[in-house]
Amino acid sequence: MSHGQQSCNRLAERRILITGAASGIGLATARLFAAEDAHLALLDRDREALERIASELGAHAAAVELTEESQIREAVAGSASALGGLDGVVNVAGIGGGTFVESMRLDDWNRVLAVNLTAPFLVCREALPHLRHAGGGTIVNVASGQGLLPSSPSLSAYAASKGGLVTFSKAMALELAPEIRVNAICPGVVDTPLLPAQMRAAARAPGSGYALKRVGEPEEIAAGILFLTSRESAFVTGIALAVDGGRTYH
Ligand SMILES: NC(=O)c1ccc[n+]([C@@H]2O[C@H](COP(=O)([O-])OP(=O)(O)OC[C@H]3O[C@@H](n4cnc5c(N)ncnc54)[C@H](O)[C@@H]3O)[C@@H](O)[C@H]2O)c1
Repeated sequence: MSHGQQSCNRLAERRILITGAASGIGLATARLFAAEDAHLALLDRDREALERIASELGAHAAAVELTEESQIREAVAGSASALGGLDGVVNVAGIGGGTFVESMRLDDWNRVLAVNLTAPFLVCREALPHLRHAGGGTIVNVASGQGLLPSSPSLSAYAASKGGLVTFSKAMALELAPEIRVNAICPGVVDTPLLPAQMRAAARAPGSGYALKRVGEPEEIAAGILFLTSRESAFVTGIALAVDGGRTYH
């Protein structure tokens, strides 16, 4: 347990793989899940930060470049073997980037799609035999409010990748029910290293689409991910849960 959180053991005995665990929302999720007694496998390409957090939490760590299929295959297999199986997956890793459509190079487009959409597909595909072997499980994919309602010019590749991830999650929920629940979570602007300064300012501005007039904290997204991973959401599958200060509800 860390950060003075009260453990309710909501993830006791659950073996969960989290990508993007070295920073931001993934890091907050790893800390919250550890406080809820989960057994964790943490994946990220930032080896140094990853090893620090894994040692803080007593978790298994795998440094992995998520655009490489063979590295994903190896990291998921190694995680399942280290934890003795898998009961849950949380795909958090993602990147911003992209630019205006007219000046976007194919490489920029492909990179955003590779990290934000193809990598979650590959992680899910590799984890599924382990979830099935465990008798079922949960998948949570961290998409974005941009995938529900794009709000900024120059984010089309990002919005497309996240909209794709929402739809992929819903399609998987249908395919994998009733044994495996699959949900997406769609954060609004959250205070992490990914967040461009102008988006932080825009969220706070009077008249912005953010009803709550502030940016979110990584822990507030982690709380939603915990809900979708724990038994508290046992009757929930195929949703895209907006945790966005009220940007997309109207
Ligand atoms: N911060 C926001 O405002 C916001 C809003 C909506 C959605 N999101 C989504 O939340 C997720 C987490 O974002 P964050 O704000 O915590 O970002 P972050 O940059 O703090 O963390 C992302 C982590 O993913 C890892 N990562 C990125 N690309 C990788 C790759 N190719 N291989 C392995 N690891 C890789 C990074 O090393 C980093 O540790 C992302 O999917 C992002 O799109 C963030």
